[in-house]
Formats: sequence, C-alpha cells, structure tokens
Amino acid sequence: MKYILLSFTAIVCLILSCTNTESTKTSEKADCEKPTIKDPNEVKPMALMMRNMANYCDTMRLKINRGEVVDSIAFPLMHFWTAEPTDSSVLETLFFDNATMFENAYRKLMQDQVHQKENYTAVIATCVHCHSSYCSGPLKRIKKLPLDYKEE
Ligand code: HEC
Repeated sequence: MKYILLSFTAIVCLILSCTNTESTKTSEKADCEKPTIKDPNEVKPMALMMRNMANYCDTMRLKINRGEVVDSIAFPLMHFWTAEPTDSSVLETLFFDNATMFENAYRKLMQDQVHQKENYTAVIATCVHCHSSYCSGPLKRIKKLPLDYKEE
C-alpha cells in the first residue's frame, strides 16, 4: 500500500513538473523575439504587416515632428487582425479587443488632423498596450516610435 501511495505521489509530481515546463515555454513564445530570423521565408502575413506598420510609424514620427500632416492615403490602416499570425493562439478575445483599440486610435489620427501629435501618441500607446500582453520582443523597436524619442 505504501509503495502504491509513493509511486502515485511520484507520478503526480512528474505531471506537475511537466505542466510547469509547458508554461515557461508559452511565456518564452509570448516574447516572440525575432521569431522569423531562423527562416526568413516563413514570415507570416501578420508579421509582415507589423513590420510595415513600424516603418510607417518611423516615417510618420518624423513628419509630425516637422509639423507636416499625415494621411491615410500615404499610410493606410492595416487590417493585421485578419492576417495569418505566426502563432495562431494569439487570436483570442483580448487580442481582438486590443486590435479594436488600435483601429479606433488610428482612424482618429487620420480624421482629426488638427491634433496629430496627441493622436499619434495615442496610436503608439495601443501598440505598446497590445505588445505588453502578446509579443514583448518588438517593444524595444516600439520604444523608439514616440515623438520625443531621441537617438543616442
Ligand atoms: C492587437 C495586438 C497588437 C497591436 C495593436 C500591435 N501589435 Fe505588433 N504584433 C502583435 C503580434 C501578435 C505580433 C506577432 C505577429 C506574427 O509573428 O505573426 C506582432 C509583431 C510585431 C513586430 C515584429 C514583426 C516581425 O518582424 O516579426 C513589430 C515590429 C510590431 N509588431 C510592431 C507594432 C507596431 C509599431 C504597432 C503599432 C503601430 C503594433 N505592433 C501594434 C500584436 C500587436
């Protein structure tokens, strides 16, 4: 009887430790640090759109700082939430809620052209917000997008 109990405890411990490693794996994935570097041909459409958006923001930042107006013809809204992601487990309610916040902020930036400084700042805040939950790797890049970012 003692042996049965002992081996039972051992099995439970094994299962528990397995579950633990699983959860560390997921949080590493959530980092999504340079996820495409290994195989450049495997870049998913969502990742491509994200790269484009980051480039757009780089350019918009400089223009807005020069007092120029940006519009949705030069910088159209990217519907990245309908594109295939590298990791499909991101496609959950919180992700889509964050995407809606981004979409609203982006539309406001293009519509309310008198307040583009404030509106651009609000867009970048929604990038940071979503990336704090999903894919924290690119935050380093996103940290360079605010209007007052100075290169060292
Ligand atoms: C609703 C959530 C969400 C929002 C909002 C969001 N992102 Fe992302 N971002 C992701 C996810 C998820 C990925 C991983 C995509 C993939 O690998 O398919 C990603 C990937 C990236 C990447 C890495 C792409 C690569 O090279 O693999 C960059 C850079 C990036 N985002 C920048 C931005 C910028 C800039 C903004 C705001 C203009 C933004 N993101 C807004 C969720 C979001």
